[in-house]
Amino acid sequence: AEQENPPRANWTFAGPFGQFDRAQLQRGFQVYKEVCSACHSVSQLSFRNLAQPGGPQFPADQAAQIAIDWQQKVREIGDDGQPAERTPRLSDRIPGPFANVKAAEAAHGGKAPPDLSLMAKARSYERGFPWFLIDIFPPAYQEHGVDYVRAFLLGYEDGHEVPPGTHYNKYFPGNAVAMPNILQDGQVTYSDGSPATRAQYASDVTAFLMWAAEPHMEQRKRIGFQVLLFVLVLSILLYFTKKKVWAKVE
Ligand code: HEM
Repeated sequence: AEQENPPRANWTFAGPFGQFDRAQLQRGFQVYKEVCSACHSVSQLSFRNLAQPGGPQFPADQAAQIAIDWQQKVREIGDDGQPAERTPRLSDRIPGPFANVKAAEAAHGGKAPPDLSLMAKARSYERGFPWFLIDIFPPAYQEHGVDYVRAFLLGYEDGHEVPPGTHYNKYFPGNAVAMPNILQDGQVTYSDGSPATRAQYASDVTAFLMWAAEPHMEQRKRIGFQVLLFVLVLSILLYFTKKKVWAKVE
């Protein structure tokens, strides 16, 4: 079977003015921490990023506590030249579950779970004619990656024959994926009363991954709008300047 195109989801951060929903990013981080981090790293993120503007914006002391409580230690070379471990600090990158790719492959039947830092921007899908005419202009729609990741997390189906060690997913290219169906209803307990459903987890963790892949998105959109406004005002002024300068020329 061919993989299907993912359905589009409603993202708060879609479009030229879309912004992240802080509460959703915080829930998404919780899902990453409690579920995905058993297998996947987000190696480009530091704990301090969790407290920065434009992201989940955990209070700084809470982000520091998240670092101290993190299930993995920071691996480094000790003063004696031997491998050592220590408790993470706010300034550290978030340690992943495996020491290296070999260990990750060994734990997952030869297929290492990929780093998720840039996943939301790295994945996409092709919608075919005539849509590709629109999709080749990046500003038109930037949410193909998140639509795919969300659909992928919810795309598992039973009753298909796949090679041993793989699972059927209707959105994964080739359909046979090494990652098992992970999300279950009730798996993560939210403190803000959001529904404890697979669909909610998938949306929340995917929004979190979008922020991880593009932490300055809100700033980019704000500045982009200001630049366009400036260009508009400048154009109007230049138009009247031109009229005045050329007024005496027939
Ligand atoms: C691959 C997300 C949990 C093991 C992937 C991919 C994504 C992803 C986006 C890439 C798919 C692609 O290449 O298009 C997530 C998220 C999780 C999660 C958001 C938490 C909700 C887990 C867990 C495990 C796991 C808990 C281990 C039991 C893998 C493996 C692959 C993979 C082995 C490689 C699959 C392949 O290329 O065949 N994951 N994952 N994932 N994941 Fe996960």
